Amino acid sequence: MTDAGPGFETRAIHAGQPPDAATGAVVTPVHLATTFAQSAPGEHQGYEYSRSANPTRTALEACLASLEGGTRGFAFASGMAAEDGVLRLLPPGSHILLPADAYGGTYRLIARVYGPAGYSFTAVDLADSGAVESAWRDETRLVWVETPTNPMLTIVDIAAVAAMAHQRGALCVVDNTFATPYLQRPLELGADAVVHSTTKYLGGHSDVVGGFVALADPELAQRLAFVQNAVGAVPGPVDCYLVLRGLKTLAVRMERHCANASAVARLLAAHPAVELVLFPGLESHPGHALAARQMRGPGGMVSFLVRGGEADALAVVAGTRVFTLAESLGAVESLIEHPARMTHASAAGSPLEVDPRLVRLSVGIETESDLLADLEQALEGLPAPPHAKGQGP
Ligand SMILES: Cc1ncc(COP(=O)(O)O)c(C=O)c1O
Repeated sequence: MTDAGPGFETRAIHAGQPPDAATGAVVTPVHLATTFAQSAPGEHQGYEYSRSANPTRTALEACLASLEGGTRGFAFASGMAAEDGVLRLLPPGSHILLPADAYGGTYRLIARVYGPAGYSFTAVDLADSGAVESAWRDETRLVWVETPTNPMLTIVDIAAVAAMAHQRGALCVVDNTFATPYLQRPLELGADAVVHSTTKYLGGHSDVVGGFVALADPELAQRLAFVQNAVGAVPGPVDCYLVLRGLKTLAVRMERHCANASAVARLLAAHPAVELVLFPGLESHPGHALAARQMRGPGGMVSFLVRGGEADALAVVAGTRVFTLAESLGAVESLIEHPARMTHASAAGSPLEVDPRLVRLSVGIETESDLLADLEQALEGLPAPPHAKGQGP
């Protein structure tokens, strides 16, 4: 405890989760009830019907809102449902600015669900303020920020983008899935809302799909509370419990994710079969200084371009043994994937199309030397790049 109140780890374990009043249980109970007894019509203990509010969900919402420094937070059935909840706050006809390498599902939601409903968007490099300036329209109402982005790990200056959005009467929303509130707190930097796929680091164990939104402004929060209940894309109580349990170890997991990812990035950067490593912890990364200011650590995601081309990138993702070939990210186990054919396939043919030589790693918390040895052997199995033919053993 400090003068500023309990620290991050203490809140992750205790915020919204006092021992159960009825039994003293130190673990938040999973309340499966869909309805709650009323002593007279409209008189109850805060819970009527579980779509509107559920005690296990309330505990998760209080804990994660506290970790993000929000006044309120709302849990959703998935990250996409959380994104949809935020987009429903925009007036019809709004124009949205989104990152040129946003998560493919975010692009699909905005382009193919909101687009036909009369919303427009421009994909722009949010790290380039001139590009943001020229993409701005009178009807721009939202700047959607991802930082680090998925899968290119571009770093965007949240404070600068939020200030620009506010000067022009728009909202700034940050998808904080890659960084987590342990490494980065966008509301403190001026963002209006933070969105999460809790499926990733917050859940942390690849066993729950969920989403979350934290907000600073009580009026905006009230509008999202209405959307959450009216649309009803809420998580079940077991899912809320699993995310709540994941949050308790978030800080220690993130420390290990960052350390392992840093070691992996250093290995890849020195490897002849790798053309470019994208990792904000490397000094060579264009967003390194900004990341060092804005984030507490570089995160656990590493992307890299394989020198030889798509066939070699596919050989690497098929060749690892500890890294599992799978979509998703942010859990204890290391994953490897080919974004162009997997997570970002929905962006094919769009301005957000991903380089087919790109490989994305979600570096887990296994033994560091096992991860490094696994990548070494997968890269060794590559056909030699043309200029290196005949060299070496
Ligand atoms: C950055 C980011 N935002 C949002 C989502 C969507 O979350 P979900 O899969 O939980 O709907 C993902 C999923 O991969 C993601 O990587």
